[in-house]
Amino acid sequence: MPELVRQGKPEVRVPLMRPIIDEEMVEAALQALQNERLVLGESVFKFEEAFARYVGVKYAISTNSGTNALQIALLALGVKPGDHVLTTPASFVASANCALHVGAEPVFADIDMRTYTLDPAEARRALTERTKVILPVHLYGHPADMDALMDLAEEKGLLVVEDACQAHGAVYKGRKVGSIGHVGCFSFYPSKNMTVAGDGGMITTDDEEVAEAAASLRNCGRSDWYTFERVGFTARLNTVNAAIGLVQLRRLDKWNEARRRIAELYYKLLSGIEGLVLPPRGDGGVRPVYHLFVIRTEHRDALREWLLSNGVECAIHYPLPIHLQPIYRRLFGFRGGEFPRAEELCRTCLSIPMWPGLTDDQVRYVCELIEEFFDKGLWRRGVP
Ligand SMILES: Cc1ncc(COP(=O)(O)O)c(C=O)c1O
Repeated sequence: MPELVRQGKPEVRVPLMRPIIDEEMVEAALQALQNERLVLGESVFKFEEAFARYVGVKYAISTNSGTNALQIALLALGVKPGDHVLTTPASFVASANCALHVGAEPVFADIDMRTYTLDPAEARRALTERTKVILPVHLYGHPADMDALMDLAEEKGLLVVEDACQAHGAVYKGRKVGSIGHVGCFSFYPSKNMTVAGDGGMITTDDEEVAEAAASLRNCGRSDWYTFERVGFTARLNTVNAAIGLVQLRRLDKWNEARRRIAELYYKLLSGIEGLVLPPRGDGGVRPVYHLFVIRTEHRDALREWLLSNGVECAIHYPLPIHLQPIYRRLFGFRGGEFPRAEELCRTCLSIPMWPGLTDDQVRYVCELIEEFFDKGLWRRGVP
């Protein structure tokens, strides 16, 4: 890995994240390109089998994005117009859009500030007569409180769709996320813990009927090539991408270990700084995979400027909770204040560099800058 990565201005000394594409992936892509059907080729099915085995479910159905994985999962579960899908406003917009895409309505409940994921007590309060699905998000790679959410779903006769788009390989009490709810959904967008070198997604489930419906829906609604049983989509994962995904999946555990090691170094170097909140570490059998390393401070914008001006890429995931996005304000009349914890997270969060290629020196450099920022109270005098 080069010490300095030059991209844009100022010179980037520490990238926020970068996808890793090695020779074996390039070779796998080439092989698939030259020897397989470009759509639904052998690599697609091999990738699905390997992914199902990895997550610990019977079936995995690939799609062309995480967004479409979520939408197809809801349709495959029989979610209908008018149904309510309960989720968190502290997520990427697709976690709620999937409900709208199938004619259902997203209903939000606030997060638990200890994990930034759906708070089961808030979820219980937000249930309606029409709730059909609870859709927790394993945000930043940290598993949601699945025991409590599964208990709630069972008590009320609801289905659970895990949005595991940021949590490939995360473990909750001995089980991989994506294998706990009725369905799990993953994204392979290039910034994720593993990618297919482009857009892609996966649906995981133990339910044969759901798997069959999902496989049909992502393939134009086919039951066989000339027979259409459903109103489906062209939402397949391309063969070349699947071939790359297969090799990426083999690297995933090693990469997640690297992320955990980097996280430990951050915890060590950043602990005890007044005014700085570090991410949840996981306990009681919860093993996060640090898709993002998200710190929080009241001085977020000044810290961001300070880091950027010193060549450290950082980002905000997310500047606005879903309910305050313009389209959600327009559709549902949200005004702010409805979900104070999600709003506080969005106001104070900052994602600092996290990916397996980070060196210890780079992590130390980031931490020194953060320490200096707080030691000298740099937010007071403005940032150069
Ligand atoms: C939590 C979450 N849900 C859903 C998605 C949608 O995935 P995609 O970008 O592959 O459509 C993403 C990623 O972008 C995500 O982070």
